Amino acid sequence: MISAGTPLFTVSELAAETDRLFKALLHVDCTPGKSWDYEACRQFAPLTLEINRLKKEKDAVILTHSYVEPEIVYGVGDFKGDSYYLSLMARDAKAKVILFAGVVFMAETAKILSPDATVIVPDRGSGCSLADSLTGDQLRQLKAAYPDAAVVCYINSTADVKAESDVCVTSGNVYDIIASLPQARILFVPDRLMGENVRTELQRRGVAKEIITSDGTCIVHDVFDAAAVADARLRFPGLKVVAHPECTPAVAAVADFVGSTGAMMKYVKTTPAPYYLMLTECGLVGRLQVETPEKHFIGGCRLCPYMKLNTLEKVRDALRAPRPDQIVMLDEDIRRRAARCIDRMFELAPKD
Ligand code: 13P
Ligand code: SF4
Repeated sequence: MISAGTPLFTVSELAAETDRLFKALLHVDCTPGKSWDYEACRQFAPLTLEINRLKKEKDAVILTHSYVEPEIVYGVGDFKGDSYYLSLMARDAKAKVILFAGVVFMAETAKILSPDATVIVPDRGSGCSLADSLTGDQLRQLKAAYPDAAVVCYINSTADVKAESDVCVTSGNVYDIIASLPQARILFVPDRLMGENVRTELQRRGVAKEIITSDGTCIVHDVFDAAAVADARLRFPGLKVVAHPECTPAVAAVADFVGSTGAMMKYVKTTPAPYYLMLTECGLVGRLQVETPEKHFIGGCRLCPYMKLNTLEKVRDALRAPRPDQIVMLDEDIRRRAARCIDRMFELAPKD
């Protein structure tokens, strides 16, 4: 029997876990003021060991968005990736508990798709400037103004907004799904900048659509600057500039590649260039430093304050005994209607 004061792990278990983390995180240097050196890994080790033990005890899986800190992604994550991939993993999860290390709209999406699971979010304050920019009521008013439009919501939206929408999209399938819709007029919410990028891309493809948007933006991606891109190109020969479609059209226009976080990772992995400017959240740079250690990332990424609310301590505490505010609950009618809109995305998304 373990009594109070008995250590949870042996010295050799802790040493082996420290080594595992240090090996995985050796090249990581993505968050200013933070280190992933051996001492840091020694501090992570009892937490990652306990979380991985709790996962077995509680029949839990941990989904990690690529923007959360690398010690979470590589220390305890069962699935790591972009919003689309993680939605599929949430839908197909068989575990009793799904802990989503990401932001609240992602955990809500997991609950919409896996209603019988207990879905946990480590920090209820992990919002998103896009999801928080539009309520279901506001969308109902917009719909009344454009009754003939197909209502397309970006997955970065609340369950209420999804329940009011015809189809959900992610940054990985937004162009293809909107192009495939029969309606000429699209009400796209809540990302104005992504809506503008969709307009440009569909024009390039020769697809005629009128795109109407609401006025949300991502506070991480809306501030990247096209002038800084030109300056970086002068300093680094052969630089590849990689941007997320939440960036401004001016930034998208000067990037070498624009895509979802999953597509950005694939682009870097398959492009033979030495230097990359990643116009996105710094966690993605951390993933690339782990998975493509031979490449150089020249800085310029930004931190999402919401994603960074996830910590190993909060993940452990939420798995040990979730507080009511850490458990995602949804009204069943809203959940069912939101599920229809996400299922429509799964039907229309390109299969690769
Ligand atoms: P992805 O779907 O590309 O991972 O994007 C999620 C997100 O929040 C981007 O800011
Ligand atoms: Fe929302 Fe932007 Fe943070 Fe993504 S990076 S979760 S869009 S605020």
